[in-house]
Amino acid sequence: MSIFRKKSIEDLLNTGSNNNGLKRELGAWDLTMLGIGAIIGTGIFVLTGTGAVHAGPALSLSFVIAGLACLFAALSYAEFASSVPVSGSTYTYAYATLGEFAAWIIGWDLILEYLLAVSAVSAGWSGYFQSFLHGIGINLPEGITAAPGSIEGTTTYMNLPAFLIVIAITLLISRGTKETKRVNNIMVIIKLIVVALFIISSVFYVKPENWQPFMPFGISGVFSTAALMFFAFIGFDAVASAAEETKNPGKNLPRGIIGSLIICVALYMVVSLIMTGVVPYAQFGTALDHPISLVLQVVGQNWIAGFIDVGAFIGMTTVILVMLFGQSRIMFAMSRDGLMPKSLSKLHKKYKTPYAVTWMFGIIAALLGAFIPLSDLAELVNIGTLTAFTMISAAVIVLRKIKPDLKRAFYCPWVPLVPGSAIVFCVFLMFQLGSHTWIRFLIWMVLGIIVYFVYSRKHSNLNQ
Ligand code: ALA
Repeated sequence: MSIFRKKSIEDLLNTGSNNNGLKRELGAWDLTMLGIGAIIGTGIFVLTGTGAVHAGPALSLSFVIAGLACLFAALSYAEFASSVPVSGSTYTYAYATLGEFAAWIIGWDLILEYLLAVSAVSAGWSGYFQSFLHGIGINLPEGITAAPGSIEGTTTYMNLPAFLIVIAITLLISRGTKETKRVNNIMVIIKLIVVALFIISSVFYVKPENWQPFMPFGISGVFSTAALMFFAFIGFDAVASAAEETKNPGKNLPRGIIGSLIICVALYMVVSLIMTGVVPYAQFGTALDHPISLVLQVVGQNWIAGFIDVGAFIGMTTVILVMLFGQSRIMFAMSRDGLMPKSLSKLHKKYKTPYAVTWMFGIIAALLGAFIPLSDLAELVNIGTLTAFTMISAAVIVLRKIKPDLKRAFYCPWVPLVPGSAIVFCVFLMFQLGSHTWIRFLIWMVLGIIVYFVYSRKHSNLNQ
């Protein structure tokens, strides 16, 4: 059955070490930065407002639940990334274990995660950027400030800042990994300083009585909010997509993946407890687009609030950067395998980056961010990612069975308990999402199945 044909792990490792001209530039520190760069963004800076309104102070509990789902999945990711350290992340791992069709489904599904996350975050970026411009006295013409239909009662044509930021980042990524790394590291440090500044300057204003009642909407509010806040953790998996550009990937990939995730779980819990401790949760309904700076405005620290606005849009820039980087690397691997047209995996002669695929996705993501409202994009990102996490956790269990002797630099602990828990958590969160999201998701996946049988199965390298 050709749909179950697998790539041999030995071949994959060869492809990985031949490296196809990608340069190995990244160490454990860079990968942790890459992970944090992808994780902290719209989730904490924008969605916590909605989260607080729907879960109350128990928002921190929602973070724990979403964080646990990610942590279990991350351990599976780390085992794969350490044993098959080649470009393409989950897609490649599935190709070696579950077969070509499952790999295709994951690769197709990851487009929902990465591509739409770039568009969704660019829309959030635009909001903070415009608020910064407003602060220095510049106001853009209304028609170009948001996607059509995103502001009730206002006619808007496109989100021009969202479009331009994605194009600018595409330009940067297509110029080279070293340049990308340098810019990313600087922006991640700024983002961490801003989060630390928030914690230090607001922690003394916490009033424990604001945490009462802790769970005003019951456990169901906590669960549905966890499905939304899951968005805040997305991105750690992008670390794995940089495998072929990593020095000593067997060791450094697991460190980067798990390290960045643990740092973010801790930061999110602290931030959400402080937010709901300083400002009564219902008040966040008045400032859904800037909940973090609202906290500082409420306690009268206006200049710090302004500084946080700037840090937020710088922080979101790195999310766009890492997600676009990940998307281009996954598509690079799919095209190299023949499942997508070969012309997409051509490397630039001078910069040694997959520029064709980078530009293709950069332009699509820029257009989606410019013309489709943020809320329509975010839930789709979550369902796509949860599906990928579920499949990769299942694949770890399968790989232990079919390749027990494969050398792994990192072992996921307690298999099948840990990957099994990842599956249970992820499927549970998926069922907290709305029916419109499920319908769109299923349409996208059916489209993917058609493309596979019409094009990819015939053009696959394994066909020759
Ligand atoms: N985790 C990323 C964010 O919150 C996608 O922006």
